[in-house]
Amino acid sequence: MSESVVKSSPPEPIDAAFEISLRPPLFEEFAGQDKTVERLRVMVDAAKTRNDTLQHILLSGPPGLGKTTLAYIIGNAMGAEVRTTSGPMIEKAGDLAGLLTNIERGGVLFIDEIHRLAPAIEEYLYPAMEDFKLDIVIDQGPSARTVRLNLAPFTLIGATTRSGMISDPLRSRFGMNCRLDYYTPEVLASIVSRSAGLLGSTLGPGADLEVARRARGTPRIANNLLRWVRDYALVRADGKITAQTAADALTMLDIDADGFDEMDKRILEAIIGLFDGGPVGVNSLAVAIGEESGTIEEVHEPYLIMQGYIKRTAQGRVAMPKAYRKIGLEPPKKATPGQPELFGE
Ligand SMILES: Nc1ncnc2c1ncn2[C@@H]1O[C@H](COP(=O)(O)OP(=O)(O)O)[C@@H](O)[C@H]1O
Ligand SMILES: [Mg+2]
Repeated sequence: MSESVVKSSPPEPIDAAFEISLRPPLFEEFAGQDKTVERLRVMVDAAKTRNDTLQHILLSGPPGLGKTTLAYIIGNAMGAEVRTTSGPMIEKAGDLAGLLTNIERGGVLFIDEIHRLAPAIEEYLYPAMEDFKLDIVIDQGPSARTVRLNLAPFTLIGATTRSGMISDPLRSRFGMNCRLDYYTPEVLASIVSRSAGLLGSTLGPGADLEVARRARGTPRIANNLLRWVRDYALVRADGKITAQTAADALTMLDIDADGFDEMDKRILEAIIGLFDGGPVGVNSLAVAIGEESGTIEEVHEPYLIMQGYIKRTAQGRVAMPKAYRKIGLEPPKKATPGQPELFGE
């Protein structure tokens, strides 16, 4: 294989340089997601042994769990060039044709937020994924004709925060579908330690876990919190990052011991205080707390559901007993099925 060229121009949020410097380049340095990593490594090794192109891969999961990182690690492991784009950036079929015709044999096209591809573009993508062919329409009106282009075999890696929004025809064209889960505090602590090392900071005993516990199971948040702790320690504690310094720094950000931020608390308070514990639809909830429903669904809700604070039902979101306790209230007594309903005293 030719030498690996990884072009890193992902459309990342604030402080991209900071994130990229902490991004593990190899499977060996990618912590957690053990099953997913194992499967991907088998796929990569098999493709390399057969000298074949890697199958298309779909990575899904909430923001900040390592989808983009994995896409680059896969490309790197294949010794392949990675080109990056995102669903909303591909506006015309011609944009996609431009990308696909420029990929060399075995190259990787990474489409972030692939659930936001326009349906027309999606259909255009099918024959490219299946047969490495692209039908492009040349000219308009009566002289319009279709030309079939042969593409070099390539690997599409799609990433999505909304796997439910991926159409079945698209989903079925991926050879592997990987769902990333939230990380345990222990794995996050190892990520924090690694990042601290890369940033040249030394952490006292327990400081890594102190940061990890408040990172909502998310490496990106863990790294961001670490950066804040580092700044805080520099100004308030001569640069020494002890567990206590980390705790003080994070308390100053209003992040509590469960990693809840303001918005998480507001969601629970709204469901309980304004909607009587639910069920409440996500749109009503969004209006009540002044946040976009998409952000609630993609960023906040999955963690609250995973931790057992809220439940998603067909009628809407319902607060669980843990949510009441979290905001200092006693959960209401519910009638259990088969027992007569209890009315107030
Ligand atoms: N398993 C991991 N091990 C170490 N660092 C990770 C891991 N997953 C994510 N990160 C870090 O978190 C940041 C966010 O990951 P990213 O791949 O951009 O998430 P996503 O694309 O899912 O939103 C990365 O820059 C990387 O530093
Ligand atoms: Mg990403």
